[in-house]
Amino acid sequence: MRGMDKKLKILTYGCQMNVADSERMAGLLKKIGYTLTEDADAADLILINTCCVRATAEDKVFGQIGRFKALKREKPSLILGVTGCMAQKEGANLIKRAPHVDFVLGTGQNSEVARVVQSLERERKHFVDVSNISGEIPSEVFPLRVGKVSTFVPIMYGCNNFCTYCIVPYVRGRERSRRPEEIFAEIRQAVAEGFKEITLLGQNVNSYSGGMSFAELLTAVDKISCVERLRFMTSHPKDLSDELIAAIAGGKNICEHIHLPVQYGSDKILQRMNRVYTVEKYLRLVEKIRAAIPNVSLTTDLIVGFPGETEENFQDTLEFLRTVKFDAAFTFIYSKRSGTPAATFDDQIDDETKHRRLEELMKVQNAISLEKNLALINSVVEVLVEGASKTDEKIFTGRTRSNKIVLFTHGVEQAGELVNVKISHAQTWLLKGAVQDYGGSR
Ligand code: SAH
Ligand code: SF4
Ligand code: F3S
Repeated sequence: MRGMDKKLKILTYGCQMNVADSERMAGLLKKIGYTLTEDADAADLILINTCCVRATAEDKVFGQIGRFKALKREKPSLILGVTGCMAQKEGANLIKRAPHVDFVLGTGQNSEVARVVQSLERERKHFVDVSNISGEIPSEVFPLRVGKVSTFVPIMYGCNNFCTYCIVPYVRGRERSRRPEEIFAEIRQAVAEGFKEITLLGQNVNSYSGGMSFAELLTAVDKISCVERLRFMTSHPKDLSDELIAAIAGGKNICEHIHLPVQYGSDKILQRMNRVYTVEKYLRLVEKIRAAIPNVSLTTDLIVGFPGETEENFQDTLEFLRTVKFDAAFTFIYSKRSGTPAATFDDQIDDETKHRRLEELMKVQNAISLEKNLALINSVVEVLVEGASKTDEKIFTGRTRSNKIVLFTHGVEQAGELVNVKISHAQTWLLKGAVQDYGGSR
């Protein structure tokens, strides 16, 4: 038997859902004696929580698994586990390819991690289980949360949308929603731990179906006092309801920010992506949102180089960006995911064109993001202080309600406080300024 002081290192790849899952697994492993370490060399257990949304994400994971081979040779008692979306997708292949991996656990089975680790502590042999992709959501969870100010609470798992490029429905299973009481309990617990900002998570929060609508859930959470800032992601444009727009407009602490992935700006491609809306419908939705929620910030995701994309489709997308003027956009090059419909489309785009289009798209959007940020110079924005900047102790960072990053000179404020900052400089991805006075929390 090992002593009680066992060290756990977790490497988390991919989206916020994986961050939340890692915190849950850390919570379960704490119960069997593992405490977190940053240092992989000191670890008795290393978990790699993986993503497979694009080939680049998978390459990173394979690289990381490879780097642990030497460590494992030096320290045979080390347990190395792979969880998350790529674990679900690859299953036993991962162990075939990298036999120094001890176990592989699928996305629906995170809650079994402690049991699996305990059995490997007793008897070392390869273990793979990815059989229960739409596994039950454990009701009692005590996540070991990484941040101090802002944290994630999943409200649902899985996805039913099957966008033709996307692997997520195949590795996360069908949509299932947590019960509201569980969500409220988890939020109360996070607030009691000192968290000020909560982001409700789901692949498509608008189709929440835990016995009330998403708008009702959001409004109910808003009423739990002390959640100083409430956010949510992601919203599929096809399901964003008037009721939700009204809930945000009438909310107390619901931030005026909607991440509304459009993916593309031409109907032909949207249809081939199975996104179910048209450009026209998306534009009308944006108008409605902007009319109801003044100062709303809109961000999006876009994919270039989807099969069949013509130069004309691409130019339409640039025009679309100039029309909507998003505050920010996350832009990706289409990555072929085997098992998805789009991987079999025969009109794939060559790499050079994909890269050229990505650069052009980013150039257009970056100019818009900068223009939007420049317009904020001399205004005063409420910032939730996150802490010192990574590069300069004297500079603090935080975010506006619109989710923009602000750097400001450090005074007496502390992480978790709300301050009013007067903006003096703007860049594409951030704002800079000085604290003018203290907001609600003093
Ligand atoms: N459920 C969310 C997020 C899905 S993954 C949503 O529907 O918006 C995050 C982003 O990755 C997507 O919005 C999409 O822009 C991008 N993405 C997904 N699959 C991809 C692929 N095969 N190639 C490139 N980008 C992809
Ligand atoms: Fe993927 Fe589409 Fe589901 Fe988002 S909504 S996770 S892009 S299939
Ligand atoms: Fe998230 Fe990547 Fe899985 S984006 S849902 S971790 S494939």
